[in-house]
Amino acid sequence: MKKINLHSELEELSPEELNPTERSLLSKAQIVSEQAYAPYSNFHVGAAVLLENGEVLQSSNQENVSFPAGSCAERLLLGYAGANFPDTAPVMLAIVARRAGEETWAEVSPCGICRQTINESEKRFGKPVTLLILRSNGNVLRIKGISELLPLKFNDFDPE
Ligand code: THU
Repeated sequence: MKKINLHSELEELSPEELNPTERSLLSKAQIVSEQAYAPYSNFHVGAAVLLENGEVLQSSNQENVSFPAGSCAERLLLGYAGANFPDTAPVMLAIVARRAGEETWAEVSPCGICRQTINESEKRFGKPVTLLILRSNGNVLRIKGISELLPLKFNDFDPE
């Protein structure tokens, strides 16, 4: 038997360590989170994506009384980006969340289906998507590509 150890690298930055592009993208995610439609979870998520041409798009989560019909902010956003900018790679994705009625930002991390969706974007455009995730302590996790969050994904074994 051989043991295989997997390794992920995440960077945690203080607000001062963010560059202006990162700061602006996170700020857009924070603003759009206020438009979340989340009457069932009361968990308001905002996501903003930077495309390689400098365009920024954003989305919040949109829920449904039939829970599986609702969608996470990231998945809606990447679907919209792919549909409207089919030739332009998403290169950076900021994600923030806040519980209704709370002042502070909540811890958040993309769900499994969203990780798979981010992976598809990387596969489609041949470019890693850097994730920026706002933490409740005010710091930001910077993750350079979905492989750090989705080891042993399907296309690690299937080169197509
Ligand atoms: N949600 C997102 O939109 N993005 C995430 O990264 C985590 C979860 C949404 C799904 C659901 O509307 C609510 O947050 C609670 O899970």
